[in-house]
Amino acid sequence: MSLILDDAERRRANDLLARFLDGYERNLDDTPIVPEIDRDTLQELMHEGFPATGTGVEGFFRDLDERIVPNSTAVSHPRFLAYVLGPPTGIAAYAEAVAATLNQNCNFWQLSPAASVIERTVIGWLASRFGFDQERAGGILTGGGSIATLNALTVALHARRPDFRATGLQAGRAPLVLYTSAEAHRCVDKAAGILGIGLDHVRHIPTDDRLRMRVDLLAEAVRADRAAGLEPFCVVATAGTVTTGSVDPLGEIADLAEAEDLWLHVDGAYGALFVLAEPVAEMFREIRRADSVALDPHKLLFAPLEAGCLLVRDAATLRAAYAYSSSYLTVAQDPLMHDYMDHGPQLSRSFKALKIWAALRTFGTDAFGSALTGMLELAGHLGRRVTAEPGLELMAPVTLTAVCIRLPGLSGPEHTTLLARLAEEGTALLGPAVVGGAHGIRVCITNHRTTRADIDAIVDRLAELSRA
Ligand SMILES: Cc1ncc(COP(=O)(O)O)c(C=O)c1O
Repeated sequence: MSLILDDAERRRANDLLARFLDGYERNLDDTPIVPEIDRDTLQELMHEGFPATGTGVEGFFRDLDERIVPNSTAVSHPRFLAYVLGPPTGIAAYAEAVAATLNQNCNFWQLSPAASVIERTVIGWLASRFGFDQERAGGILTGGGSIATLNALTVALHARRPDFRATGLQAGRAPLVLYTSAEAHRCVDKAAGILGIGLDHVRHIPTDDRLRMRVDLLAEAVRADRAAGLEPFCVVATAGTVTTGSVDPLGEIADLAEAEDLWLHVDGAYGALFVLAEPVAEMFREIRRADSVALDPHKLLFAPLEAGCLLVRDAATLRAAYAYSSSYLTVAQDPLMHDYMDHGPQLSRSFKALKIWAALRTFGTDAFGSALTGMLELAGHLGRRVTAEPGLELMAPVTLTAVCIRLPGLSGPEHTTLLARLAEEGTALLGPAVVGGAHGIRVCITNHRTTRADIDAIVDRLAELSRA
């Protein structure tokens, strides 16, 4: 069997794909959010292996219809509100198909000239949203926010210790210390663990009553570490914490970072792209003072997974960490295009920029601003409705679109049971929340398909269950 589809097979594949995409879109609202998992089918999938003679195009689409789609979570469903994950835009599937067809290797420009310029354009546009100087700023698309933060901390280590490439952390100098808040995402610890900074050298600074990093305690911790002979080198602020959406006081942290010569990284994986939403844009203004920022186009630009982004204020810092010369890859430099292998750890890289670029071109930037503003309004509405319901309690102020709610009197495990019940009956897939030690549930609206009616249905049901 050839590995190329002939004309008839291609026509059939086109028809079946079009039918799948169309059916998926039309039936989304009626699809169970969490599938009733068919274990026998999945067991069979796991064990049946691969035929020597293929099942052909029809066989692939049959598997898709009968076994894969019914056992997949409907993350685009309007009441899928459990995680920071949005439904892809309408152009996503088409852009992904084109990217797979072109199969550009976004490592050096000769293998991906248009892709290199498109990635640069996307990075430049994102950098300018935060007021970075486009000439000086740089960045790279990554597999997600966690990888963007891992890359950022790598860059910060190289910036602090110019001989880091040769000596790593083995040069016997004072241990480096990293600061972040108690509400920071686990990816910060994970990066510190991977990079050899060590969790013993990560300080989780307590937060205030709005769950924002306490800058006075940050300053104290830096002072205490210096006095103990350690070397503070980096602070990771969060613009949109994963649990409650709180935004650290970025300006004050930037002041301290400047005074103490700390690299300032902002984890904006959840929240920073709300800079596109006019009503809250100001909240993110001070990001322009950061050395680096992690964003997630696969969250708030609704790109299909995976699409994260690292921005750095000074592109030279990226290259200092990641550019190695390899004789067999060298092609002439071209000022128009970047060799992205010099901006990150990967050599072979997919054309991630296309799905972001395609969506911004197809729908226009205003569409994203309004989608994000709409989600913020829904979160505000949800917060107000919860406050007005006697049986429900808000666990934290609503800053962005993460809304944490508890039913007073219910224990942690009882909230877990409640979540399972809501999912099972099809009301919504929501997530758990722990705020200041209290257990509850979390509604995270990063879904541009969610409507006010969806939110009302969730609150009505919660109120009913709380009365019961
Ligand atoms: C604040 C924050 N940082 C980092 C991440 C991790 O991002 P990713 O899943 O893209 O690696 C998340 C994910 O929700 C997040 O909310």
